Amino acid sequence: MPKALTIADLKAQAKRRVPTMFFDYADSGSWTESTYRSNEEDFSRIKLRQRVLVDMTGRSLESTMIGERVSMPVALAPTGFTGMQHADGEMLAAQAAEEFGVPFTLSTMSICSIEDVASVTTKPFWFQLYVMQDRDFVLNLIDRAKAAKCSALVLTLDLQILGQRHKDLRNGLSAPPKLTVKNILDMAIRPRWCMAMLKTPRRTFGNIVGHAKGVNDLSSLSSWTAEQFDPRLSWDDVAWIKERWGGKLILKGILDPEDARLARESGADAVIVSNHGGRQLDGAPSSISMLPFIKDAMGDRIELHLDGGIRSGQDVIKALALGAKGVFIGRPFLYGLGAGGKQGVREALEIIRKELDITMALCGKRDIRNVDGSILWTEPKSLIEDDQAAKSRLS
Ligand code: GLV
Repeated sequence: MPKALTIADLKAQAKRRVPTMFFDYADSGSWTESTYRSNEEDFSRIKLRQRVLVDMTGRSLESTMIGERVSMPVALAPTGFTGMQHADGEMLAAQAAEEFGVPFTLSTMSICSIEDVASVTTKPFWFQLYVMQDRDFVLNLIDRAKAAKCSALVLTLDLQILGQRHKDLRNGLSAPPKLTVKNILDMAIRPRWCMAMLKTPRRTFGNIVGHAKGVNDLSSLSSWTAEQFDPRLSWDDVAWIKERWGGKLILKGILDPEDARLARESGADAVIVSNHGGRQLDGAPSSISMLPFIKDAMGDRIELHLDGGIRSGQDVIKALALGAKGVFIGRPFLYGLGAGGKQGVREALEIIRKELDITMALCGKRDIRNVDGSILWTEPKSLIEDDQAAKSRLS
């Protein structure tokens, strides 16, 4: 694969290599995509403080997330259809993450199963849970994650009903893709993707097919979530899930200080400040603009993570400066995977690591664990506080 210098380079390569419906699945937000865009744009509005003549030797990016050592505080986010960006995508990404020393999170909606990923890794990975109406299936998924020795359960709170993504409907997203003339032509011009896909048996949702009762047709994500996901999911469910799991629990999809307080009361170990990458409630604020308010409300009472909009190591350091202990990247690693399989994921991580390291040094810090609000020039709360309605809600 050609040398990529930025995540945007990997995105351009992935667009050439991955069939349109799967590239678009990753590169979309719901409805107008305004929240998807503001996740990225709001990072660029936060300015860093340039410091000089500070000793830059012996820098370290090592830290911890939920008590686990990480070579940098960046985890791979749970993403659906990952094994459609590249054959065996979840297995390759998990291996790349393990070699790099960062956590990998497997999605319920993955193509490779929990057992597939466990079979090619040696260290524990994290598992993301969606709660379906079929409780036996959910209990079984939790038990399968335990049996695979996953070290954290990431419970997603913001997708009981699917935010409409126009591109997926227009493209007829399904796994495997339906063999229409349009899809055959689209795949035929991507022979590398096709060859790898022909060699693997993993072409549909590995955690679900053969495990969930009555699930034979997963072709439409929207009708499948509408039929299977549990729209009644509540804070009471968090309690039994936590008990059944019995290990570290991360709650994903917190965007409001009040929900962060409830998450803390539920006994979770960490929350991910997230709007699902702008894929659910379009019109919600960006994750990074809400982080300072959630940090103010929670202090150190719960570990905060963030996802949404991270496209560089600079974005990572801004999130850390605003109080996140770690971040999750979704699209950046998917672009790497689509561009070059395991090597592409490595490159995505390496790009972010380099940017993070050099930015930290130029901000006058040598240890990522000492990064705090002092490295920022702008007052990031102004991203939201300019808005009078939001201000009154937060007072
Ligand atoms: C699933 O998590 C999705 O956002 O498509």
